[in-house]
Amino acid sequence: MTNIIARRFDQIKASPSMGAKAKVEALRTAGRRIVDFTIGEPDFPTPQHVVQAGIAALLHGETKYTAAAGTPALRSAIAGKLARENGLEFSASRIVVGCGAKHVIFNAFAASLEAGDEVIIPAPYWVSYPDMVAINGGTPVVVRCAESIGFKLTPKLLEGAITPRTRWLVLNSPNNPTGAVYTRAELQALCAVFKSHPHVWLLTDEIYEHFVYGKAEHVSALALAPYLADRTLVVNGVSKAYAMTGWRIGYGAGPLPLMQTLSLLMSQSTTCPSAISQSAAIAALEGPQEGVMDAAALYRIRRDLMLARLKDVPGIHCTVPDGAFYLFPSVAGLVGRNDHRGVEMKSDVDVVNFLLDAAGVASIDGSSYGMPGHVRFSFANSAEEIEEGCQRIRAAVTSLVS
Ligand SMILES: Cc1ncc(COP(=O)(O)O)c(C=O)c1O
Repeated sequence: MTNIIARRFDQIKASPSMGAKAKVEALRTAGRRIVDFTIGEPDFPTPQHVVQAGIAALLHGETKYTAAAGTPALRSAIAGKLARENGLEFSASRIVVGCGAKHVIFNAFAASLEAGDEVIIPAPYWVSYPDMVAINGGTPVVVRCAESIGFKLTPKLLEGAITPRTRWLVLNSPNNPTGAVYTRAELQALCAVFKSHPHVWLLTDEIYEHFVYGKAEHVSALALAPYLADRTLVVNGVSKAYAMTGWRIGYGAGPLPLMQTLSLLMSQSTTCPSAISQSAAIAALEGPQEGVMDAAALYRIRRDLMLARLKDVPGIHCTVPDGAFYLFPSVAGLVGRNDHRGVEMKSDVDVVNFLLDAAGVASIDGSSYGMPGHVRFSFANSAEEIEEGCQRIRAAVTSLVS
């Protein structure tokens, strides 16, 4: 049989978080009680008023194709949100709605990358960025941002990574998987680097914007650097803020020629996002926002609980995340030790397998996020699950060490 698969797919990996989810389900089906710390979505339901808006859309016959870039009503609701919450002025014509933020990012790469064009991706990164770049013929340029610098890109590291082939920097704050949140000063310093590199564009993935804790605040880089307006794509969506991951609505706002091309791409691929979901997304953006604030307050409590319960667990070292809903501890202290079967754990992947096997706790290896030696624990989980999962981790790890 001749091979039908394009060569650029040789290097493409399946999403590890989707893989982990499938593994958890398989183990549960086999009867094992698993505490799932892999979860990358809110654990509470979509707010009632949003669900009602979806039902109303169905009943009112909003069940047909919409404009490729999204309904005028939703695009104008997004324009209102960007002005109100982010201090960004975008006309609806410069906003495109996609089937999730992921779709918008994917299409942005599809619309802009020539073969071999480079995209700078600070690591740790959301797992999908490098693969989305590679699928679209680009070259991911991963820049390691160590724990010692707060897992954050610095102007020096950025400067060092830029070449004549650079097309984009992808900046994700609050960050998945580390929870790092860039400060105003840090964003200003990074944006200043762009001044001497007019060929480089900025993509800001702001999907976790509402989940910031303590003194941390989310600021859109573009609001601080309006001089980058003609080369910045702001990406966001309703998945995380409104517990709407299954509705598949995300959006991008940027310069008109890019947005027109994204719209063209949508029209020739998905036609448009779901009309029903678009109506629900308007209710999410324009309706009461207390649910978002309540969720952020809850995540903060859960974050502190998980940090407290993992404190002093031998071999696991947590930094305090300022945002998102993940802990990204170092497990370097466990690598090199023997697991419960007496087999040496050579990497974070082995540690993840040990935690699943010996403790029944599912997590994701840091290697998948471009940062070996770490694991990702999600605290988008009930306090009971966090208590139980951490207690199991402590017991399993302590039994190795004692
Ligand atoms: C950093 C980041 N960006 C984008 C997305 C995708 O969000 P959406 O559900 O809107 O496609 C995720 C989902 O996990 C994410 O973690």
